[in-house]
Amino acid sequence: MTILHIDSSINGDNSASRAISRSILEQLRAQSQGSSVLSRDLVADPLPHLTLASFNDQEVLEEFLGADTVVIGAPMYNFTLPTQLKAWLDRILITGKTFRYTANGPEGLATGKRVIIALARGGIYDAGSPAAALEHLESYLRGVFNFIGIEPEFVAADGLNISSEQREASIRSALGETVRLAA
Ligand SMILES: Cc1cc2nc3c(=O)[nH]c(=O)nc-3n(C[C@H](O)[C@H](O)[C@H](O)COP(=O)(O)O)c2cc1C
Repeated sequence: MTILHIDSSINGDNSASRAISRSILEQLRAQSQGSSVLSRDLVADPLPHLTLASFNDQEVLEEFLGADTVVIGAPMYNFTLPTQLKAWLDRILITGKTFRYTANGPEGLATGKRVIIALARGGIYDAGSPAAALEHLESYLRGVFNFIGIEPEFVAADGLNISSEQREASIRSALGETVRLAA
């Protein structure tokens, strides 16, 4: 199994999404010995903003297409994903490669991959909560991956900025969830 591991938090060792994505990776590796892992830290090694010239560089796309499983650490910044992660998505949403338009509408071509996303959010965005309309992280990522033919799985740590107790409990629960996810 080839695993692609993507991180996009600017918070280094204090990052919740990095801790959760690392735990997902560890669980997957324990379950499938001998799998190869390719890591891309989008903060240590950022991709430039999309330009027309970027379409000639297919390295990021090839990495994605070559992976069986993709693990992504995705923190919420300003109600959506980090720009570093958007720059990565800009390189994998390529017509004719990961989707195409047909007479019956768009068709995802990246089927058969497992995508697991570690979300970390400072607030609470559950349906019906006051801030629900501002949730543009999970909803966006689900929409994007659905578009290319993948149903992503999510492990979320929420309410991280409400209190230190809430943060600790939320991260602990998400880390527990990663065990179930890899089982
Ligand atoms: C620049 C910045 C912007 C943020 N914006 C939001 C936000 O819009 N909504 C929210 O719920 N939390 C927000 N937060 C809180 C983060 O989602 C929270 O700290 C989370 O732990 C980030 O994940 P990380 O620890 O992996 O970086 C923001 C944090 C930072 C640093």
